[in-house]
Amino acid sequence: MAETLNNPSRYTITAALPYTNGPIHIGHLAGVYVPADIYARYLRLTGKDVAFVCGSDEHGVAISMKAKKEGVTPQEIIDKYHTIIKKSFQDFGITFDNYSRTSAEVHHETASDFFKKLYEQGDFIEETTAQLYDEEAKQFLADRFVIGTCPKCGHEEAYGDQCENCGSSLNATDLINPKSTITGSTPTTKETKHWFLPLDRYEGFLREWILEGHKNDWKPNVYGQCKSWIDGGLEPRAVTRDLDWGIPVPVEGGEGKVLYVWFDAPIGYISSTKEWAKREGKDWESYWKDENTKLVHFIGKDNIVFHCIIFPAILKSHGGYILPENVPANEFLNLEGNKLSTSKNWAVWLHEYLEEFPDMQDVLRYTLTANAPETKDNDFTWKDFQARNNNELVAILGNFINRVVVLTNKYYDGVVPEPSNFTDVDQETLDALKKYPEVISSSLERYRFREAAQEFMNLARLGNKYLADEEPWKVVKQDEQRVKTIMFVALQIATGLAVLGEPFLPFTSSKLKEILAVRSSAVETSWNDVSEKETLLEADHKINQSQLLFRKIEDSEIQTQLDKLEATKKANENENKAVTPQKDTITFDDFTKLDMRVGTIIEAEKMPKTKKLLVLKVDTGIDTRTIVSGIAESFKPEEIIGKKVTVLVNLAPRPLRGVESQGMILMTESKEGKLVFVNPDEEGVDNGEGIS
Ligand code: 2FM
Ligand code: ZN
Repeated sequence: MAETLNNPSRYTITAALPYTNGPIHIGHLAGVYVPADIYARYLRLTGKDVAFVCGSDEHGVAISMKAKKEGVTPQEIIDKYHTIIKKSFQDFGITFDNYSRTSAEVHHETASDFFKKLYEQGDFIEETTAQLYDEEAKQFLADRFVIGTCPKCGHEEAYGDQCENCGSSLNATDLINPKSTITGSTPTTKETKHWFLPLDRYEGFLREWILEGHKNDWKPNVYGQCKSWIDGGLEPRAVTRDLDWGIPVPVEGGEGKVLYVWFDAPIGYISSTKEWAKREGKDWESYWKDENTKLVHFIGKDNIVFHCIIFPAILKSHGGYILPENVPANEFLNLEGNKLSTSKNWAVWLHEYLEEFPDMQDVLRYTLTANAPETKDNDFTWKDFQARNNNELVAILGNFINRVVVLTNKYYDGVVPEPSNFTDVDQETLDALKKYPEVISSSLERYRFREAAQEFMNLARLGNKYLADEEPWKVVKQDEQRVKTIMFVALQIATGLAVLGEPFLPFTSSKLKEILAVRSSAVETSWNDVSEKETLLEADHKINQSQLLFRKIEDSEIQTQLDKLEATKKANENENKAVTPQKDTITFDDFTKLDMRVGTIIEAEKMPKTKKLLVLKVDTGIDTRTIVSGIAESFKPEEIIGKKVTVLVNLAPRPLRGVESQGMILMTESKEGKLVFVNPDEEGVDNGEGIS
């Protein structure tokens, strides 16, 4: 049944539809979009017929929650993020053939038709059951509207549809101690009717198709998760919800209900293909129904059950559709040791990266590929990003290309020289070059993108070693003929890098093709030509001047990014900090005992050998007095001289590190944890003015 297609007629490549509740971050890129784009670009370069589709996932509780939190409508949320996401993918060079959205008419129609067909075939169970209900919000609670303890692993923040800790797929009613995420209240239960997909009926099919058919070609993490779900016993799963945001349930009795987001979202791949085919004058059906089409889903590990169990069961039940040949799900990427989080702003946002590092798409692409979470969770660090750039892209690839191009221009005015006899080393180097397409393909075909990128970089290493060993800059003084051969060989490697680098470093590859004056179309030099053509860059061909492919990234740029994360961390800590409880009540008489005045700091210096203390001279309007204040970590002495402050002047003097402090400056703390003055810093307020 699950024979691997050896020579597919076409490919349908899907990348998980991102929720439009936030922008794209590096976790999404590393897990899904960069590998998917590398794969699609590679296939196109080898002349394959490819439909690479994606779109925004605009339904589901994530959107409703974000809208509620921001006090706007779901429509406003999806429009905002759809625009940001679509543009950032484009600017980053992700080459979707179509980027759709699930609010599109074609999608509502396609998803409704799927539901109706299954309904009419009697493939659903219709059942009235008690579901969690929030009395205060007057709403049923499912999915992310409810959290509680996972019955499988004990994780206390599992969602109503899934536990992100152990990956289990759950029903809201499975949660122990459920709480509404809308009001925080404990839900009651209320009866409601829903349609369930009886997954248990698909056990035999799933066992045969996945457990027997894909034991050897699916990644162990994907296969393992599928096995544990199937072995654990599949249960009917509700595919409708009592919500007002989503695709209306298109059958009798479905009024006021919508399709479960995970019913409609994967069908979004089909809708997106339809939209593309219509625009391009193609036949969408061959991309979804022809047995010779290879369907591959790129997703993150939290989506495995939906793509390997639920969606295939829907497709199978509908009939006439192909099933995925592979689902190369990745693990998660962390950021500087912590889990990426949209709500906690713990992320490197793609649209911000593109602004802060203009024209450096390939650096991020390369770093995320070289460190991709393919077999285990991985960590993105800014230091690693800098090292990958400075030590690999600049020092290996950039350096090799620069030497080849500069020397060719210097010695031959940019014209590729005629080689004479090849030495053994020349021949071995040219032979090694010819092997790269196959070596890299073999990794890519097995979805090993890290390995493939490393192999590509090994080709640049080969070029560097060749030049370092042959030393054309020295030989040129004795044997001009020999140098021509060396440069000829080096130029072949440079051309190989331009062609084979396209899936990994598309912007660089296109610049390099411009420098080498080779056309970027597959007709000129394609992937297989690197092995098959005798010569990639003919003698007499004229190349252009060198251009900078990569620039060094300075420590200060990395520090700016680390500071940004530090500020996020502080802001989150403060947000979570419990507000100090109110102190015991005081009488008005107690209050009037406090003598608070406006004052001006006229001198400030650090208290020697302390980190926190500043010694201040303050004009209180009554006198000029010394006050020792613990604010040195928030202010430099010079920046507070002249500052108007509020002073408690009748606090009993007390010695601090041998200096008598004669009062107290009133301070508070900012969200970022910085101390700030409680300050009537208004024009015309005189020192000595009381505060009451
Ligand atoms: O996890 C997510 O972000 C989902 N929006 C992915 C959907 S993938 C597909 F099925 F549409
Ligand atoms: Zn769990």
